[in-house]
Amino acid sequence: MEQTLIILKPDAVQRGLIGEIVSRFEKKGFRIAAMKMLTITPELARRHYVDHLEKPFYPPLEKYITGAPTVVLILEGEGVIASVRLMVGPTNGLVAPPGTIRGDFATDIRHNLVHASDSEAAAMREIGVFFG
Ligand code: PPS
Repeated sequence: MEQTLIILKPDAVQRGLIGEIVSRFEKKGFRIAAMKMLTITPELARRHYVDHLEKPFYPPLEKYITGAPTVVLILEGEGVIASVRLMVGPTNGLVAPPGTIRGDFATDIRHNLVHASDSEAAAMREIGVFFG
């Protein structure tokens, strides 16, 4: 069964949106295979965002993602990777369409509530980073 790695980022936790977001995934029909709350360390952040370490937005991104607790999940189901990416919406909440999670709740490119793996290879790698 296909799996994907989801992070409910610090703004999702602080704004009380854990239930709202997880509920959307459950109502869609995806299964939660694992779920835990953790504060991401800088070392974990660097492993997770390994492809973005050299980007100018990486230092503020690391500060944000390590700054407060997150909830990390493995979701599974047929076609879950692409489907969840559609449910989450584009990176920038300001232009994400209404009906997507970012479109409904985010107004920012960094504070965009959710991470979702973008490919099968990324999902396998990211699940390894967070769940060993
Ligand atoms: S890229 O450059 O197209 O590969 O970037 P993208 O895949 O859109 O985003 C990579 C992750 O960095 C987060 N992030 C930002 N991206 C672009 N610009 C800015 N300013 C920025 N700040 C943070 C973005 O949310 C992606 O993280 P995840 O966790 O996958 O959402």
